Amino acid sequence: MLRSARELWLSFLAMLLITATYAAMLFFTSETPAAGSFYGHTVGIIGFLLMLMTETLYSLRKRTRSARLGRMSDWLQLHIFTGIVGPYMVLLHSSWKFNGLAGATMLLTAVIVLSGFVGRYIYTRIPRTADGIEDQGRIGQMQASTLANARRLMSLWHTVHIPIGMALFTSAFVHILGALYYATFLK
Ligand code: HEM
Ligand code: HEM
Repeated sequence: MLRSARELWLSFLAMLLITATYAAMLFFTSETPAAGSFYGHTVGIIGFLLMLMTETLYSLRKRTRSARLGRMSDWLQLHIFTGIVGPYMVLLHSSWKFNGLAGATMLLTAVIVLSGFVGRYIYTRIPRTADGIEDQGRIGQMQASTLANARRLMSLWHTVHIPIGMALFTSAFVHILGALYYATFLK
């Protein structure tokens, strides 16, 4: 599982398409789309919804442990796809300004995506079944000590990746409420 990197290629393709819409905006308006403009809002809102899906769906699927809801590997691929494309849209939303709380939220977003790549790398070092359970049958192929290290690293990694997500969504909600109140509704 996760060895084909299919979700990374699909993310790359989606980012190319989104970049094309951004380039079209630049071409037709000759200015960087502002975060509070129609385009800026649209990419900000869709990107944020994709990030919310990233934060919740995989965890929910992981906890239900019901195979009827689809394979864990597919859910993790979706997690990674929305976890790359969502933040990219939010980056285009920022209009390349990173002041105050919004800038800090963007920084946390970048950190969680980078940490995701590290986690993906460690995750693929541990042999698993398609449903994400460690595959005892294949563990023999690896040195036991290497595997124990990978497991330890993975749980250490969880203790970093998860709190960053929580901090990120807390500051994102404050930013969204503040930005909508001061920059959109008070205009
Ligand atoms: C994780 C999600 C988000 C991040 C990281 C983010 C980040 C940013 C950044 C970096 C800016 C530029 C700040 C500056 O001028 O220096 C900005 C502006 C803005 N954002 Fe977001 N944003 C997010 C989601 C949203 C959403 C969902 C909305 C709307 C519903 C929104 C509404 C706005 C508005 C209206 C502005 C313009 C504020 C102004 O003109 O002063 N943002 N955002
Ligand atoms: C908005 C961005 C992201 C958010 C909010 C986010 C959030 C989370 C959360 C909350 C978990 C814990 C799931 C659980 O055990 O219940 C998780 C796990 C994970 N994430 Fe992300 N993530 C993001 C982006 C990424 C990216 C871009 C990648 C890969 C390139 C990635 C790879 C992983 C991996 C490998 C796991 C561990 C899966 C497991 O142990 O079962 N994440 N993420």
